[in-house]
Amino acid sequence: MFAACFGLLLAGVIPASQARQDAKDPVSPPATPAPAAPAAEPAPPAPTAPKPNLEAGKQLAYTCQGCHGVTGYKNAYPNYHVPRIGGQTSQYLVQALTEYKAGKRKHPTMQAQAQSFSDQDITDLAAYLSSLK
Ligand code: HEC
Repeated sequence: MFAACFGLLLAGVIPASQARQDAKDPVSPPATPAPAAPAAEPAPPAPTAPKPNLEAGKQLAYTCQGCHGVTGYKNAYPNYHVPRIGGQTSQYLVQALTEYKAGKRKHPTMQAQAQSFSDQDITDLAAYLSSLK
């Protein structure tokens, strides 16, 4: 009875062959609910790392220019080798600065630099430097 009515109903709209096929396939399940869980607790964007602030990073990076060069922080002085820091990934920069700060990397200047930075400062600096080409 249901199938018959269904068939009749569809007959007006779709070719008969398809309607019959649909009728044989008893009940197509109703639209499945969206798989995503109800948005009760929106996930925090980055639970572990502080949020990077590019503008703050730019300010902080001002002091790095003397040694790390100005344009893109590529080695500016051939007679004084410093690694390139602009355009490195922020993970790399965060790790390097954190290691100087913790004394795991030994270099007096960079240790002094890094020790004056908070985790937020390091995040900001890394975000800014990694955005350079
Ligand atoms: C007085 C000079 C000087 C200043 C100022 C300076 N650096 Fe450095 N930096 C160096 C030298 C030299 C090295 C290489 C040290 C080594 O061999 O471990 C270095 C290494 C680094 C490294 C590691 C790069 C790598 O590939 O291993 C990072 C990252 C870095 N500096 C970031 C900064 C940031 C950010 C600033 C500014 C807040 C800064 N530096 C300011 C001289 C300086």
